[in-house]
Amino acid sequence: MSRVNVEYRDLTLDDYDQAAILEPRAFYNRPDAEYAERMRQIFPPEWTVGAFLDGKLVADVRTVPMVRRLHGAKMAFGAVGPVTCAAPYRRRGLVARLLTLALERMRDRGQVLSGLYTPHDALYQRFGWERGEVKKGYSFHPKDVSLRFRSAGGLTEPATPDDWQRLDRIYRDKTRDANGPLIRVEQWWKEAVLKHWDHGKMVDSDAVIWVDDDGRDQGYAVYLNRSMAPEGNWVPQEIFIRDFQALTADAYLGLWEHMLTHDLAVNLVFETHPADTFRELCEDPHKVKATVEDGAMIRIADVERAFALRPYLGDGLAAFTARIEDRNLAWNNGTWRIESADGKLHAERTDATAEVSMSVNALAALFTGFLNPEVAANTGFVRVTRPDAVAEMAQIFAVDDAPYSPDYY
Ligand SMILES: CC(C)(COP(=O)(O)OP(=O)(O)OC[C@H]1O[C@@H](n2cnc3c(N)ncnc32)[C@H](O)[C@@H]1OP(=O)(O)O)[C@@H](O)C(=O)NCCC(=O)NCCS
Repeated sequence: MSRVNVEYRDLTLDDYDQAAILEPRAFYNRPDAEYAERMRQIFPPEWTVGAFLDGKLVADVRTVPMVRRLHGAKMAFGAVGPVTCAAPYRRRGLVARLLTLALERMRDRGQVLSGLYTPHDALYQRFGWERGEVKKGYSFHPKDVSLRFRSAGGLTEPATPDDWQRLDRIYRDKTRDANGPLIRVEQWWKEAVLKHWDHGKMVDSDAVIWVDDDGRDQGYAVYLNRSMAPEGNWVPQEIFIRDFQALTADAYLGLWEHMLTHDLAVNLVFETHPADTFRELCEDPHKVKATVEDGAMIRIADVERAFALRPYLGDGLAAFTARIEDRNLAWNNGTWRIESADGKLHAERTDATAEVSMSVNALAALFTGFLNPEVAANTGFVRVTRPDAVAEMAQIFAVDDAPYSPDYY
């Protein structure tokens, strides 16, 4: 590395031709002009930091600015992806530096939390991300399943990306007070919800809206079909439900009735809220395989400001003192007193002795409500020196709902 000049900086539009080769290649896709054009249209260059070796882009990390809800609060959120390094330059610490730079930019931009989806948990754990959300998965053969209850009235209507505002009204109603969903803007609806990648191209997904007998939109489903392993000349299809929201029982049942009409599909896959009860609505639940699927890994980019934005759902006053270890971000590292007051939370640095200690990773999983404080104390995520502090933590981190986002990024 010492023989070459390494520069870390935000991309400029001039770097997009290089990024449009680097990024698809890292994910085993074929670079093409459409990818470069899409980048130019959708991603302002300052969202991506790159590593340049002698002027050549060899690694990059993009952070898409989003807003994550937590029981009425809105928290600026950095959705990270893609993270790439060209194969010849891997395991030299380039991405390590870029992840830290991305976190510094998040803090400057007020993005108090960050999230990402990955198969490489061990990589991101080193930089403070921790599993912080969960999804319940279903998979089944649609022909094998029938529902115990039927919708009474209402019909499905086909929808296109131009109908995104109708879907958004339903989504906002459904997620306003929830724990984890992201606020979606038009571009997110059109690019990340209502389209999907198919053989290296972005294509429209299928969508239906459930309209009740009074003409009101009460739910929607967005889904796509994808090819499975060929069997002779036949290519079996799998349906993946990308998003499904219902405001009423009739909409919920009616949308499932719609999904079950996909009788040619060999498999239907859906990842949803952990409290969803679809399996229990089936005459034979054993035909539906239920799994626990990974939600996002979450990171606290700014401890002080994240707590200032987080609502307090516990009872009465609660406080504890925690040593937080953050190996990457000095402004988080240290001992903090975290307390509730007037329905809000407050974190400030203290010289007092810590009652508990944990990594900034464990703090993220507690913060979203994914990790229960008592479980954390019993499994090594949190080290406890004053046992009563665990009950205080349970108050501070109380949530009404499991942390879950219907998005992927
Ligand atoms: C994953 C990827 C981005 C890592 O890039 P890289 O430049 O090799 O990463 P770095 O050299 O900066 O590694 C930083 C640290 O993470 C570790 N690490 C890197 N990849 C890892 C992985 N897949 N699993 C576990 N640890 C990993 C490194 O060993 C290093 O640890 P150290 O600091 O203790 O030495 C790169 O391999 C890549 O582009 N892969 C294909 C695309 C991809 O999978 N992107 C991520 C999708 S979420």
